[in-house]
Amino acid sequence: MYFLRHLLVSLQLSIVQTLLPGSNLHMDRSLIGQGFHRDLNTYIVLDKDLRGLYTSPECSLLLIETLPAGVYADPFQLSSMVPFGGPKIRLDGAVNIEAAEFMSKSHELYIFVNVNLYAVDTMTEQTVINISFPIHARYHKPSSDPNVSHSTVTIFHPSLYSNCSKSDAGSFLSAPCDVSSNLLCRWEQLSYICSAAPLELMIPVGMARDKPIVILVTLLVTATICSLLIKFIWESDSQTCKKHS
Ligand SMILES: *[C@@H]1O[C@H](CO)[C@@H](O)[C@H](O)[C@H]1NC(C)=O
Ligand SMILES: *[C@@H]1O[C@H](CO)[C@@H](O)[C@H](O)[C@H]1NC(C)=O
Ligand SMILES: *[C@@H]1O[C@H](CO)[C@@H](O)[C@H](O)[C@H]1NC(C)=O
Repeated sequence: MYFLRHLLVSLQLSIVQTLLPGSNLHMDRSLIGQGFHRDLNTYIVLDKDLRGLYTSPECSLLLIETLPAGVYADPFQLSSMVPFGGPKIRLDGAVNIEAAEFMSKSHELYIFVNVNLYAVDTMTEQTVINISFPIHARYHKPSSDPNVSHSTVTIFHPSLYSNCSKSDAGSFLSAPCDVSSNLLCRWEQLSYICSAAPLELMIPVGMARDKPIVILVTLLVTATICSLLIKFIWESDSQTCKKHS
């Protein structure tokens, strides 16, 4: 569902973008780091003439980010970052951070941006909004093809909205006004230009053919530790008995 909606939105956006080649709202995206833990970075660049549109106190920008089942954002980690300048993010539901990829669903993040908090670059007169937060890869099913050692997770670009549009022309979405309130605002979708491709993470996967050996080694280690424990308990027990006799 979510995926379909976002695909439609992206298609719609690329049409708008071709109609408005001079649009001066740009986005760039990148993933920093390696392996299971990454930082997802989004840069939004507003030209001088656009900043004025979004900086009145009653205005906010909203990014809706869809994370596919292969990755998750940790709600506790996100909220612990807010006092240190982390982005204000609301999740669309509970996130099970333990579940593997094949047991999980995609989830949405609502990221609220107050443009006033970002300074204007004196050289370019642009406002660069940079949003960064950690994401984590979920474990994937082991691969049964010996040639496949990685699985690819694709993260599409977010959709962008503003809640201070005066016009009725655009397409609108009813979504929460901010991180904590239950009030709904009317968010107008904004088009932007993004030349980056959708982001991809390569997640290492286990080999199904290694399963028997992994199970065997786990069993052996468990059995050894158990017998050592039993031996230890037995010996300390017989010592206490001797003392009493
Ligand atoms: C982006 O923002 C972070 C703080 O949130 C800051 O440390 C970092 O330098 C910024 N990066 C750029 C390229 O402006
Ligand atoms: C794996 O790759 C080798 C050589 O690259 C190829 O001969 C073989 O058929 C591949 N196996 C599978 C299951 O795709
Ligand atoms: C837009 O959202 C901000 C907070 O995210 C809120 O303070 C403001 O009242 C909203 N504006 C409108 C016109 O709904």
